[in-house]
Amino acid sequence: MHEFKYKGSYLYCEDIRVRDLANRFGTPLYIYSYHTLIGHFVKLKIAFLEVEPLICYSVKANSNLAVLRALVDKGAGLDIVSGGELFRAIKAGCPADKIVYASVGKTDREIEEAVRRRILFFNVESLPELENINRIAARLNKIANVAIRINPDVEPKTHKFITTGKITNKFGIDFKGAYKIFLFRNKFTNLNICGLHIHIGSQITESTPYVAAITKMVNFIAKLKRRGIDLEYLNIGGGLGIIYDKEIPQTAQKFASKVLPLLKKTGLKIILEPGRFIVGNAGILVTKVLYIKSTPKKKFVIVDAGMNDLLRPALYGAYHNILPLHAPRSTLHAKEKVDIVGPICESADFFAKDRRLSCVKEGDYLAIMGAGAYGFSMSSNYNSRRRAEEALVIKDKVFVVRKRETHADLTCNEIIPPFLLGL
Ligand code: LLP
Repeated sequence: MHEFKYKGSYLYCEDIRVRDLANRFGTPLYIYSYHTLIGHFVKLKIAFLEVEPLICYSVKANSNLAVLRALVDKGAGLDIVSGGELFRAIKAGCPADKIVYASVGKTDREIEEAVRRRILFFNVESLPELENINRIAARLNKIANVAIRINPDVEPKTHKFITTGKITNKFGIDFKGAYKIFLFRNKFTNLNICGLHIHIGSQITESTPYVAAITKMVNFIAKLKRRGIDLEYLNIGGGLGIIYDKEIPQTAQKFASKVLPLLKKTGLKIILEPGRFIVGNAGILVTKVLYIKSTPKKKFVIVDAGMNDLLRPALYGAYHNILPLHAPRSTLHAKEKVDIVGPICESADFFAKDRRLSCVKEGDYLAIMGAGAYGFSMSSNYNSRRRAEEALVIKDKVFVVRKRETHADLTCNEIIPPFLLGL
């Protein structure tokens, strides 16, 4: 499933020993495998070939320009949620007509920029937003394409923080509300309401919730058709789960086999917005063991990466597999229960609790697996820590795709007012 494998006792990324990269670039270090990234994109593309969808990779999962460029180069479009992501998308060379834009809180400035750029469409999340886009498009003398994001009220059976398709969530518009919008569509003189969108949640490992949501969409599309309302696009969002622990997520093929019959019924152009499925297992976070600390109740492995580098365990209690970069046979059986923690002043700053880990010592390196999605993109400067370096490996070559921040970067936008300097 991915290109991070042991060869002998060393963990490799494609054809490079990860330990050599850690020694060369320092830690904490994100490492991405080009072939894993592209491999997942291609898998999805092949699985859905019958409907030739536009796969709009979800930028929020990992917004590094090199990652975006690699996918755009293979024909991907991009799913964005802010003006900053639009900026990145354009910078990565994504054609504007392959960009879709969701978010419950688009500002006037963000809308204006996206209208000017002529993106493929906005995924609109409320009536006031729809009215606003219409107003802005009118002012610019443009027609903006929009899809209505539906909240289909389904239970995706995932972590509550990443559930988005239940009626109590802030996302999308209920079917009744959406129907009304379509009935009064002529009121929106500067909009072309050309599609429907859903995104029901993230890290979803089975097809049942998708089938439930898409079935509702198929019925809704038929209802609209009976009223003479024809659409062009159905965007089924992202959310496909990956293996972090013991999950057995559906393969792209299996997922496609369940939803394709429904999608074909619509006759619409299909859009997918996967993030995690494409990039999740294509990245690891490499960290160094600073200290081993034994207390009366616990053994702590203190590493040089923190929750500012990878927030998922702290925020969701998420599980990430953790592997040594060098695992000689002699150490493999000598496992002990440890907490793997970072240097940050918060008890939530952990990567694993009571985890059985083969014996490690100070100076050893560890790989936190499955860190490609929502890893670097959710990282911060908390505790005034410099954000990590990112490197992309392709076979036996490595490219730094983001330099480690410097201390000067930390303060470059800060200003001490003259009165505090006695001026
Ligand atoms: N489309 C929309 C409208 C979304 O909101 C998202 C993710 C995606 C697509 C991509 O979802 P994916 O295929 O990656 O599941 N930080 C959390 C995940 C938050 C997902 C937010 N929306 C985590 O680390 O698990």
